[in-house]
Amino acid sequence: MSVDFIILAAGNSSRMKSSLPKFFHTIAGKPIIRYIIDTINECSPQNVIVVTQDKIKDSEYFSDVTVKIQPEPLGTADAVKCALDALSSEYTIILCGDMPLISAEHLKNLAKTSSKNALIAMTLPHEFQHMPYGRIVLDNGKFDKIVEYKNATDAEKLISLANTGIYKIKTESLKKYVPQIRKNADSGEYYLTDIFNFIKEVEVIQSPDYEAFHGINTMQDLAKAEAFMQNQLRQKFMANGVNLVSPETVYFSHDTQIENDVVIEPNVIIGNNVKIGAGSHIYAFSHIQDCCISQNVEIGPFARIRGNSSFAEGAAIGNFVEVKGSVFGTKTKAKHLAYIGDTTIGEKTNIGAGTITCNYDGVSKSKTAIGSNVFVGSNSTLIAPITIEDNTILGAGSTFTDTVPAGSLAIARQRQINLEQKANDIWRKKGKK
Ligand code: UD1
Ligand code: CA
Repeated sequence: MSVDFIILAAGNSSRMKSSLPKFFHTIAGKPIIRYIIDTINECSPQNVIVVTQDKIKDSEYFSDVTVKIQPEPLGTADAVKCALDALSSEYTIILCGDMPLISAEHLKNLAKTSSKNALIAMTLPHEFQHMPYGRIVLDNGKFDKIVEYKNATDAEKLISLANTGIYKIKTESLKKYVPQIRKNADSGEYYLTDIFNFIKEVEVIQSPDYEAFHGINTMQDLAKAEAFMQNQLRQKFMANGVNLVSPETVYFSHDTQIENDVVIEPNVIIGNNVKIGAGSHIYAFSHIQDCCISQNVEIGPFARIRGNSSFAEGAAIGNFVEVKGSVFGTKTKAKHLAYIGDTTIGEKTNIGAGTITCNYDGVSKSKTAIGSNVFVGSNSTLIAPITIEDNTILGAGSTFTDTVPAGSLAIARQRQINLEQKANDIWRKKGKK
């Protein structure tokens, strides 16, 4: 059965009190609107239409959908009206763009129902009874109407069957009735829920997953959705054999990939685009993003990894080491207090404590290449662009500016001189015996 999807995303997001439209706020590093589009894409849609505002129509997040503009936010029915000419399938599923936690299963169930019209209703548990969702009024077990919470009577407010705002409607009926919906006298808006004054034959699909239909209207809603998603990610990784020592203190991204037997210590933050191979150990308080960590790698504690970095098997990054845009070969180590940026390092190289790659000259970035089996002495400064060839030793406390040829020992610091008795002379002059 061919189904078109309309995502309503033209509202003002005024309750967010943010300059960024709510659809672009992120949950586990992914914008709200992409959750919905990606979920719909799992349901083999015919057309996906996003109704949005003119000022955000060119967003990169809309690259794979049809965008329709609602010139003014005059209500959900007015928004659907703006999409009508893009519909070509027999059925249309309409949903709000602020509901990132719904699953493809919910939408697939709705799409495959044989009823001409259907909607998903959530059964609110007692503690969510006060939530301002529209209520589904049944008459003898059959659909009667939807009342908006603000217009509901006290008795209607106690109805636990709430409108998720997800509907399947025969496209023909949608095109016929949406233009006939009248403005709500109180709010001046056109309510899509009023279409059910015309369409009476509606299957009500009841779902107990009220958490999945959580809409994002405020920053509090956003934080709740983040907490829900983080918890799901933690459960998923633990179920796959990842050892989270203190799960509630570890944060993941929607796209994090972790193999089994990885240990993640408390207070680790994993940003977008991270893969971690089996047997690796991420020590406490590390912040890692945009990197590929192979098997049996050690990271942290207090490590900062970013900018498309990679670590081959057995590599190790220690305390207070920052790595950006760099490649670490097998068993290469930087265990203490270093900054390694825009650098490629071969195998079994040891980067001493306090090593800094100077990749930025105030105008442009340059690269550092370090070979295999290199020993970089502590407190080395490597001024890029520079190449350190294989099997070299770099003397501690040096500043290197030129290529170090394979097999060489390089030192770039002043030779030590000892002036015998000079210190004693000074002490004596200062009167300190
Ligand atoms: C709507 C439903 C309510 C349901 C709830 C579920 C209506 C009248 N009410 O209420 O029954 O319980 O969703 O979350 O439909 N939008 C536009 N253009 C507009 C107005 C809204 O695109 O002119 C979009 C919003 O950006 C949002 C969605 O439509 O994504 C829903 O609008 P919102 O104002 O949040 O409706 P609710 O009050 O939540
Ligand atoms: Ca809403």
